[in-house]
Amino acid sequence: MRILVTGGGGFLARGMAGPLAAGGHTLRLMDRAVFETPHECVAGDVAVLDDVRRAAAGMDGVVISHMAPREPNAYATPDACFRINVTGTANILFAAQELGVKKVVIISSTGRKPGDAAAWLATLPIQGEGLYGATKECQEVLGQHYAREHGMQIALLRVGYIVDADVMKDKYGRAVGERNALDVDRRDIGEVARLCLEQNHAGLRVLPVMSTRESFFEWGVRVTVDTLSWTPRFDFDALPSDQTQNG
Ligand SMILES: NC(=O)c1ccc[n+]([C@@H]2O[C@H](COP(=O)([O-])OP(=O)(O)OC[C@H]3O[C@@H](n4cnc5c(N)ncnc54)[C@H](O)[C@@H]3O)[C@@H](O)[C@H]2O)c1
Repeated sequence: MRILVTGGGGFLARGMAGPLAAGGHTLRLMDRAVFETPHECVAGDVAVLDDVRRAAAGMDGVVISHMAPREPNAYATPDACFRINVTGTANILFAAQELGVKKVVIISSTGRKPGDAAAWLATLPIQGEGLYGATKECQEVLGQHYAREHGMQIALLRVGYIVDADVMKDKYGRAVGERNALDVDRRDIGEVARLCLEQNHAGLRVLPVMSTRESFFEWGVRVTVDTLSWTPRFDFDALPSDQTQNG
């Protein structure tokens, strides 16, 4: 398959690239500027429809992984974060539908968990906090809309707290010293995204993606394991347990 990854230069996308390309898939990474990578890389703004149309042309699937930067001001007012996260996602789904690209994976988040794991998985959209959370809610609604209205195959991946398990650091370079139920290595997310694109199914799927043993019960990750025959590779078992949930 030919797979477009938006936000291709970001923390998550850089870790997903290897597992996504496994099995002979070809990647096109889109970000605001080109960067050094063995994969095809295109510059563009997801909020500009023609940039997205160019990036999505000739693709078989898309992974939406861009986000407005977590800089102090990016989420202080709605303009930048809604332009990038929401209009950007709407542009990609619109262009994909226009171009006949049927399979899309949207990187979502966990938000708050109302009730148990089953209730949380049935809650659509997630209940996000602040303007960041509001944009993630909108992304889930857009995915649901395109699955229902256009019969597209959409997977919403509700990912936890993303870690590079090789160095036990998060996207800001902060050390991860304790195991939190939400922890997940970015390569495991890449593998889940690839499995989603390789499968054929109708409509919308909501899948939690974390990889600690606690997450199987607390966040319903067993659903993802069973649906995709996925085996998480990074369990964070070597870390002492933390009681808080900080995804
Ligand atoms: N990092 C986490 O722990 C975490 C947790 C839950 C969910 N997520 C989700 O994972 C996804 C990826 O996040 P990340 O941590 O890799 O963020 P990141 O900031 O490292 O990467 C985002 C990328 O998007 C790019 N981008 C920004 N504006 C753009 C634009 N207008 N056009 C094209 N590209 C643009 C940025 O340049 C950057 O490379 C997001 O959807 C985020 O909500 C992340």
